Amino acid sequence: MDDAVLEVKSITAGYVPDLPILHGVSMKANRGEVTVIIGPNGAGKSTLVKAIAGLVPVSEGAILHETVDITNIRPDQMAMHGIAYVPQIDNIFRSLTIRQNLELALRHSGKEGPAKLATLLDQFPALRDKQTARAGSLSGGQKQFLAVAMALATSPRLILMDEPSAGLSPKAAQEVLELTKSLTEAGVSILLVEQNVNQALRLADHCYILAEGSNQTDGKASELLGNQVVADIYLGGRRLRAGQ
Ligand SMILES: Nc1ncnc2c1ncn2[C@@H]1O[C@H](COP(=O)(O)OP(=O)(O)O)[C@@H](O)[C@H]1O
Ligand SMILES: [Mg+2]
Repeated sequence: MDDAVLEVKSITAGYVPDLPILHGVSMKANRGEVTVIIGPNGAGKSTLVKAIAGLVPVSEGAILHETVDITNIRPDQMAMHGIAYVPQIDNIFRSLTIRQNLELALRHSGKEGPAKLATLLDQFPALRDKQTARAGSLSGGQKQFLAVAMALATSPRLILMDEPSAGLSPKAAQEVLELTKSLTEAGVSILLVEQNVNQALRLADHCYILAEGSNQTDGKASELLGNQVVADIYLGGRRLRAGQ
């Protein structure tokens, strides 16, 4: 059943007026699914996610979340709309402890804060065990777990994640992707940008391919896995081979 939670309708967006990076990009993300965006470096994947999060101005088109128009939303309004954004870089405060990071993320939770903190620490035992350590001392994978835990602090219904597995070992990348998938079991919808294409296609439900700021193709992730069109696209400057 098509149950779109996010609808991007033919948006034009860019960092500078009259210099669009996205040219009429459209996409949908369904409730409780992982929707993955792939494409070569510079395709506009991060720009698309930032445009949804209100961090890059949209000059044409519209973005709907749960049928509410969130085009050019103020970034501080995201939590109110049930959306969280995990940026690719600088998504945790390295000099603070893990607990302080979570407390910061929970700062608007009021009386519910301590209970929510306990729930998050239960959900991420590796973080609970190191809660007084500085976040900068965590492994790459654990840092991403912390970033996801911080995103969960506002109980989002939609999480935008920009390359959470970038720079991680294959094992840590797989763990982060599996965590992403597990969040959908609670009904959360995920929009994921990924460069680990085959890994992402194995766990995602739907996939969009962007190149040069435009939609190329999209389809069921399981059907794009091993598809020649996908295999022929250069990702990160290297040709993607079947089974890679
Ligand atoms: N802050 C910025 N200011 C101006 N141009 C930018 C900025 N960030 C990215 N771009 C440009 O936008 C285009 C798309 O970048 P990006 O969305 O980061 O691609 P991707 O995430 O697919 O690698 C690139 O040409 C890039 O140079
Ligand atoms: Mg990017």
